Amino acid sequence: MHTNKDIGRLRALGGIKWQRFGPDVIPAWVADMDFPTAPAIVNALRGMVEASDFGYSGSSFGDAVPMAWVDWSARRTGWKPDLERVRLFSNALQPIAAALSIATAPGDGVLLFTPSYPPFLGMIEKAGRRLVEYRLDQHDWRIDADALHSAVEPRTRALVLCNPHNPSGRSFTAHELEAVAHVAEEYNLAVVSDEIWQDIVYTDESQHIPFASLGSHIMERTVTVTSASKSFSLGGLSCAVAHLGNEKVEQGIAGMLPHLLGGVSSLGATAAIEAWTHGEDWLAETVATLRSNRDHVLERFALELPEVSLACPDATYLAWLDFRETSLGADPAAALLEQGGIALSPGPDFGVAGTGFARLNFATHRTLLDEIIDRVISVVR
Ligand SMILES: Cc1ncc(COP(=O)(O)O)c(C=O)c1O
Repeated sequence: MHTNKDIGRLRALGGIKWQRFGPDVIPAWVADMDFPTAPAIVNALRGMVEASDFGYSGSSFGDAVPMAWVDWSARRTGWKPDLERVRLFSNALQPIAAALSIATAPGDGVLLFTPSYPPFLGMIEKAGRRLVEYRLDQHDWRIDADALHSAVEPRTRALVLCNPHNPSGRSFTAHELEAVAHVAEEYNLAVVSDEIWQDIVYTDESQHIPFASLGSHIMERTVTVTSASKSFSLGGLSCAVAHLGNEKVEQGIAGMLPHLLGGVSSLGATAAIEAWTHGEDWLAETVATLRSNRDHVLERFALELPEVSLACPDATYLAWLDFRETSLGADPAAALLEQGGIALSPGPDFGVAGTGFARLNFATHRTLLDEIIDRVISVVR
């Protein structure tokens, strides 16, 4: 239940989610949650603020954050990343960009599942690599092994996997991941596995499976990337980790000019350590709230606006809404913003496969979520 106090707090936040659009717009776009983060994290940061503990942090965080993540991953997924291969980055996109620039050359193809988190598309284009697209089935968002094989083009050298998948909300099954692994092996692809959504999974059957856990031969071609930013809403604090199982990438990054990649702040590192050490109970409660929001979104759309369809996301707090049966056109988010005063993420930003779609972030208070859905309904009708 949100109160005016919640709205006041949200409107006063400095982050882009609530600042980009004016006071009449309700934002449901960028993947930040509207809930305050875990008290353990707030307390740790408050302690630093009160002590003015802002001195240079040295290299201690370079060990402590990876150690916290290795334990977290082992506890939650059974996969214990090799600490020697884990490195700190300032955000999740940094190791992905580094890995692609090391593992591929201009003109090489990069296999990407579309629709795709927009920065991957931008990165491939900007780097002069070729987008090799595997379009997920737009009804069940499952990976079809044969179709994936057929998608691979000559000179494809790398694969960017996003699991759980943004924007569809799919958490891929062991069977699907095996199919991806098979393609990676057959075509000798370097793999970047973005697993930043690993903790926001709703169904036991699809508990998150790290791609690198499929076997040592797979781990050795894979860079696994994650952060506490999605699960604990810490995006602005900039702290991520990557397991550099792929030796070429590991060597390439080790050989870069010192400081080229930039590091993390002591605040970001402290928040990540707290999240991965003491955040589990808070996360369980938050995932329960998100699951209830997800069910509510599904129910309201099914009952009140069946012409807008969505597959049930088994992970993430994103609903990938299909407006193709409505009159909202190629970019429904533009119409929703203009006519409804709600900001969703535009489907076309996620590639051609996003035409006619928009992405709704449902990590918000229930009454705000209802207001957003009411506005979608009134614009479509
Ligand atoms: C799949 C995916 N990767 C990376 C990011 C951004 O990561 P970071 O918080 O480290 O900037 C996001 C943010 O929404 C995301 O959805």
